[in-house]
Amino acid sequence: MDKDRVANKGSIGVFDSGYGGLTILNEFLKEFPDYDFTYLGDNARTPYGTRSFDMVYQYTRQSVMRLFEMGCQLVILACNTASAKALRTIQQNDLVGFDSTRRVLGVVRPSVEKIGEVSRNGHVGVVGTTGTVQSLSYPLEIQKLFPGTVVAQQACPMWVPLVENDERNTPGAEYFVKRDLTRLFEQDNQIDTLILGCTHYPLLLPVIERFIPAGVRVMSQGTIVAQSLREYLIRHPEMDARCTKNGTCRFFTTENPAKFNEASAVFLEQPVDSSRIEL
Ligand code: DGL
Repeated sequence: MDKDRVANKGSIGVFDSGYGGLTILNEFLKEFPDYDFTYLGDNARTPYGTRSFDMVYQYTRQSVMRLFEMGCQLVILACNTASAKALRTIQQNDLVGFDSTRRVLGVVRPSVEKIGEVSRNGHVGVVGTTGTVQSLSYPLEIQKLFPGTVVAQQACPMWVPLVENDERNTPGAEYFVKRDLTRLFEQDNQIDTLILGCTHYPLLLPVIERFIPAGVRVMSQGTIVAQSLREYLIRHPEMDARCTKNGTCRFFTTENPAKFNEASAVFLEQPVDSSRIEL
């Protein structure tokens, strides 16, 4: 057995374009209180949702490599846009050159896997950033796992700025959430399952629930992704053994740490003491 490889241990890396991935980290911290985590938010270059495929890939790759350099053996792309646009290429092209035993996982696949348990009629709606919707990642993954499912998508570019500017409980939020959900359900009025395919959207849940037809089930990603990580680590005990377990959580941002610490309060249920990092 390769001794060096076994000696390689580190925290679980959680990457997002900014703050949104903290909604996923929240659930990781509840599910894995004894594991170590390193969160990296690329706040200096957020949002990713409006950027081209190439930019999202370059930025995500740099961030993942940085987390690897910090010792992470496993990195979760908590960002839907990065999962949709960069994950596959990083898995196929970049891991081999760096260290083929490291792993990068995303949030699209675990969410799609749950559809079979949630949807009763096979009509699914997806809301996300413009980038996630244009990538077609959700419809393609859904067709692979559940052929014949009818998928409607709606880009909601105003929802992230509404959350980040603390406008969640205002008439402005109501207007845009209602408008975009109306557009989604106009595409298919039989949708019975709604995937919130963006890190920020669970924070708009109370508004979203007011504008969806009765009986529609809403899938928020935090708990789904945490459960999926649990199942992954059970299936891969060799990776679980490489995850250190001292119950710590470090935070890095590419922007101003004081700003990050303050804004994090909206997304994470614990105080944050972040450090600045250059990519
Ligand atoms: N984290 C992104 C996502 O889940 C939303 C914010 C952004 O556009 O960068 O798609």
